[in-house]
Amino acid sequence: MSHTKKNLIKVKNLKKHFSSGLFHKTCVKAVDGISFCIPSGKTLGMVGESGSGKSTVGRCILRLIEPTCGEIYFQGKDILATKGDHRNLRKQMQIIFQDADGSMNPRIKVIDQLLEPLRVHKLLNGQIKETAADLMKLVNLSADLMDRYPHELSGGQRQRIGIARAISINPGFIVADEAAASLDLLVQAQMMDLLKRLQSERGISYLYISHNLPIIRRMADTVAVMYLGRFVETGKTKDIFNSPAHPYTQALLSAVPSINPLARPKKNMLRGEIPSPLQPSCGCSFHPRCSQAGTICSQIIPEKRHIGRDHWAWCHFVSHKRAAA
Ligand SMILES: Nc1ncnc2c1ncn2[C@@H]1O[C@H](COP(=O)(O)OP(=O)(O)OP(=O)(O)O)[C@@H](O)[C@H]1O
Ligand SMILES: [Mg+2]
Repeated sequence: MSHTKKNLIKVKNLKKHFSSGLFHKTCVKAVDGISFCIPSGKTLGMVGESGSGKSTVGRCILRLIEPTCGEIYFQGKDILATKGDHRNLRKQMQIIFQDADGSMNPRIKVIDQLLEPLRVHKLLNGQIKETAADLMKLVNLSADLMDRYPHELSGGQRQRIGIARAISINPGFIVADEAAASLDLLVQAQMMDLLKRLQSERGISYLYISHNLPIIRRMADTVAVMYLGRFVETGKTKDIFNSPAHPYTQALLSAVPSINPLARPKKNMLRGEIPSPLQPSCGCSFHPRCSQAGTICSQIIPEKRHIGRDHWAWCHFVSHKRAAA
């Protein structure tokens, strides 16, 4: 990914290792040395199977958890170097969760949950109902809903409240972690349109995390494909989808079902499940499942290889020419 001056987020060699166990210490390398940039007003889509480390990346950037090491810059400022009160930073960065139900308190009325970030940051003026109504209008919700409890809303409405809450304090950056996953397809499409509209109106940058490749294709400007804590491929969305270079990306794309009845089902090239991060394999972590693996793959971790403009893959067998073919 190109490093421009307009990068809102810049992450360098980020690692998050979790250790557990009292006597037999085990270490999960949830994120193991990744670097990327997100320019202002742009979306980085992060994909990968369950357990690949996507949410951990988002949580590290928001400092909901402390990274093991690495550098995270927001507007050019190293946020890991700033100790103490992160309130100002929190104002600039928000998260939208997959599970709006789980992130809302069932006993607190919608209006109070909606306005909580404004209250916390002392940005709420006297016009409480008016502010709530404006926010709800922004996400196409009727102001009548503000006096209800969360269970009295539909899943899509709750998710809109989550979005309204996140944008209420005008953040520059939002982590959307499977933000549309629990919704039906139509509501999913509306949600994506809403996030895109807010992005173009306010210049917000998104880290959009999802298993769902069609959603990533629609939302992201650039894509990072993760496998067991590392990137295996990064590039512009159209390059990742039109000419995927890494066998893992190719396998993920081949697993997307087609709704065209005339389309021949594609062969799913992915063998087995993602291995336990407690027992990482030597060499390329994808090699035990890779249909194209050679001897070197079980011995040496692949370096980043240049495939094309802003297109990179971590595989011994990809090259500029082969990927373009
Ligand atoms: N607090 C924690 N303590 C120990 N291990 C953790 C912790 N949080 C995450 N992990 C481990 O880190 C790895 C990455 O988890 P993470 O939630 O980031 O994956 P993910 O890609 O977001 O998965 P999903 O798509 O299922 O949400 C997993 O093996 C997980 O079990
Ligand atoms: Mg996750």
